[in-house]
Amino acid sequence: MNHLKNAKLFCQSCFINNDWQDAQSGKTITVNNPFSGEIIGSVPDLSADEVRQAVAFATLAQKSWSEQTAAHRAKILHRWADLIDDNLDDLARIMTLEQGKPLKESRGEIGYANSFIRFFADEGKRIYGDVIPTTNADLRYLVLKQPVGVCAAITPWNFPAAMITRKVAPALAAGCAMIVKPDSQTPFSALALMALAKQAGMPAGVVQVVTGDAATIGSVLTQDERIHKLSFTGSTTVGKLLMQQCASTVKKLSLELGGNAPFIVFEDANLEQAATGLILSKYRNAGQTCVCANRIYVQNSVKAEFLAILKQKVATLKVGNGLDLDTDIGPLINDKALQKVQSLLTDALQKGATLITGGQTHPASPLSFMPTVIDGITPEMDIAHQEIFGPIAPVFGFDNEDEVIQAANDTEYGLAAYFYTQNLARSWRVCEKLEYGMVAQNTGLLSNEVAPFGGVKQSGFGREGSKYGIDEYVSSKYWCVNVAG
Ligand code: SIN
Repeated sequence: MNHLKNAKLFCQSCFINNDWQDAQSGKTITVNNPFSGEIIGSVPDLSADEVRQAVAFATLAQKSWSEQTAAHRAKILHRWADLIDDNLDDLARIMTLEQGKPLKESRGEIGYANSFIRFFADEGKRIYGDVIPTTNADLRYLVLKQPVGVCAAITPWNFPAAMITRKVAPALAAGCAMIVKPDSQTPFSALALMALAKQAGMPAGVVQVVTGDAATIGSVLTQDERIHKLSFTGSTTVGKLLMQQCASTVKKLSLELGGNAPFIVFEDANLEQAATGLILSKYRNAGQTCVCANRIYVQNSVKAEFLAILKQKVATLKVGNGLDLDTDIGPLINDKALQKVQSLLTDALQKGATLITGGQTHPASPLSFMPTVIDGITPEMDIAHQEIFGPIAPVFGFDNEDEVIQAANDTEYGLAAYFYTQNLARSWRVCEKLEYGMVAQNTGLLSNEVAPFGGVKQSGFGREGSKYGIDEYVSSKYWCVNVAG
């Protein structure tokens, strides 16, 4: 990979026990730039035994890491974060090359990723236990918070750095060792982070990255009894499978799965603000986030005006190579993603939707798709029910609040929801009735390190970020002491 200031950040081997390791078989997986289609490099295709060896290293490291003070762990985590800041340009470039997102978004993601490391480094010092008022004069009741043990994370391609640090940072801060399996399409961001962790003085085996076949590695990470906790971000289908596999060893789990976010614009909203928020929510990462607006509900009395404003804003978005500084929308991740977007659009148009803007691939690259808006969506259309994961904004009309709440909740998912209104009483009513783990009002972006990120229903369970995020990596030990005699 050329044009990096620090070429050592481009690593094509796994990071195991603070060493760079290839597969004994010599097998590798190639990684492509989704914009150009060019091969960027390759990573090892590890065997199950090689992954088990990483688990053995983690088990060893876990013991001494958990015996360190939180302050000691925080110092190393902050050093890691400093190095990430120092290498921001290279990390962003690696991310854009392997994932396709615009450089400005990659830079934003590195900052976002680092915010989790800094936040949890300090949060580790605030893991408090309890002294419980006793029910028996001879006894004292205490609760100790202890690290859950060796953890594993399976992370997605859409946020190649932030979804790693959002899991690794709380685990490490709490005193756990962590093994990460990044998506095979975007492993280089993960490995670059490991190069910096090593430079920061992270002890061997505390954090490791293994690459290879998802089913092979997944079956070790879910079934090895030395691993006590699995955190996964990805599809609901895969989440269900991992849950089944984890049952055999009764692992603690957190799952951040699919979404089908409603984005509701009431007639009393500031329409300009709502259209700007929709652009942020819908077209971030070319529509490939779990919290992207997926169904846009606009009150019929203001729909025509809203669509006119939206169309104007969408026209200013530039589709192109993520490496160009003025690009707003990069390519989709792969052919399958493109086919899904095209088939959802074709189905909607065939069933009577109206194309407002976009609607086709963009000449910038075979995987580039124009930011698209379609109106007149009805429940018969596939796009009304499926997570799009692409830059299409399907717009539904509605007449009243009850009707739109019912429609918004009519899904098995419950990750993020958005609504725009200036009315205070309506704000409370709507927020309380939306069956979602996260609700954003009058803004299109809600993610940050201090707030709890996570869903309800089939969007998963567990929270990441915030003071709640570290709970996923500690267990409570109840200590009952007889103090008599
Ligand atoms: C995701 O798409 O899974 C994460 C999005 C975010 O953190 O904002």
